[in-house]
Amino acid sequence: MPERGAPRRTGAGAKLWAGRFLEPTNPLVDAYTSSLDVDRRMAAEDVRGSIAHARMLAKQGIIPNEDAEKIIEGLTQVAREIETGTFEMDERLEDVHMNVEARLAQLIGPEAAGRLHTARSRNDQVVTDLRLWLKTAIAETIAALHDLERALVEVATENRRVVMPGYTHLQRAQPVLLAHHLLAYFEMFERDIGRFADCYARTDVMGLGSGALAGVPYPIDREMVAQELEFSALSANSIDAVSDRDFVAEYLAAAAIAMMHLSRLAEEVVLWSTTEFGYVELPDAFSTGSSIMPQKKNPDVAELARGKTGRVYGALVSLLTTMKGLPLAYNRDMQEDKAPLFEAYDTLTSSLEVMSELMVNLRFRPLRMRRGSEGYLLATDIADYLTRKGMPFREAHNIVGRLVAYAEDEGRDLSRISLEEYRRFSPLFEADVLEIDVWTSVRSRDVIGGTAPRRVSAALRRARAILRRREEA
Ligand code: ARG
Repeated sequence: MPERGAPRRTGAGAKLWAGRFLEPTNPLVDAYTSSLDVDRRMAAEDVRGSIAHARMLAKQGIIPNEDAEKIIEGLTQVAREIETGTFEMDERLEDVHMNVEARLAQLIGPEAAGRLHTARSRNDQVVTDLRLWLKTAIAETIAALHDLERALVEVATENRRVVMPGYTHLQRAQPVLLAHHLLAYFEMFERDIGRFADCYARTDVMGLGSGALAGVPYPIDREMVAQELEFSALSANSIDAVSDRDFVAEYLAAAAIAMMHLSRLAEEVVLWSTTEFGYVELPDAFSTGSSIMPQKKNPDVAELARGKTGRVYGALVSLLTTMKGLPLAYNRDMQEDKAPLFEAYDTLTSSLEVMSELMVNLRFRPLRMRRGSEGYLLATDIADYLTRKGMPFREAHNIVGRLVAYAEDEGRDLSRISLEEYRRFSPLFEADVLEIDVWTSVRSRDVIGGTAPRRVSAALRRARAILRRREEA
């Protein structure tokens, strides 16, 4: 064991922070504290951040130009190795940051490499890497939501003349257009995109320059680094900068809500594909069979999209719980922020992607949907008919309620009730009551946001314009 004051081991394998340590770390501790398996995913961001940092250090005269050049050359080589998958990381080196720096030292020697970490701490480094990573991830999440929206608009457009029963309490309620129903999801995913865009703005803030927590005692140029890394803003408080993970929480919250929406869509696909509903037929390529029941075709993709929602909710709760009650500033607990973030991102984007494909490949069965929308679903329309003739709606509701009970007793659909029978319930009924059908019903919902075909066509035009605008941006 080396004595205090003795020269230290500095070769490969020595920890970069081992200066004050006399004993090596217990292997259990190495394994337990390592985050490499998770944060290796940010290797490219780590290199990018370091290059910008080194360039600034040289420009400010904080490190010699020649060293900065070597550092940048070395890091560029590391970036190539990352890209080609040849960058070999060492588990004992704790995390991706240490690995990049150690590799840099191998490439350019410890002297120049040792200057890179001037005016920086892993605390402001890790948050910068994570923000860089998340900015790209948010853009990709928005793109995946956008693609699903486009799939929904496509399916809605192809089926714009299909009527289906709208439901409340999962009971048939009123006829609606299938396109109207699908566009409801368009609205949800639009709000999701809005949430991710908001989250992007708060992620787009650079913490580098905060040091460990107090700022750094060098004349750094934070603006220069932010510009190079394409951050729109600088963190305003160094303590907050290294301890803030709100942007992760926001991403996870937005992801949880988006998965909640997706799970509702998935649930409808599951329901609609049952024999009981029979509204859609699943494409073979998106279903699986049963190992025992030869007749089965299971909606596994939709079920898994529904089921994986649990992981994303779990990720949100995991992060919030990790952050809860942490004193300022950085605490090692915060290393646990990345696993849930990556998992939520992977789950959400893969679920969005496969559900988009599933939606455009569903075969709808318009006749089944149409048949499901007839009959008692027109009861509200009949009550509205009486109301238009001057009867208070409450009274009309009551009369039509009795009419429905009568038709049910007779085992007949409302369309099989004669005018003479109608008139037994109210003298206000005239021959035109027999004209009420699913089409008069949907056409009459001619209000902003209603299911009338012309309103739905307008909604489709609006949706396409939103998609187009985003694609052009
Ligand atoms: N691996 C660490 C993390 O992800 C990097 C920051 C470590 N900072 C420290 N002071 N130990 O949080």
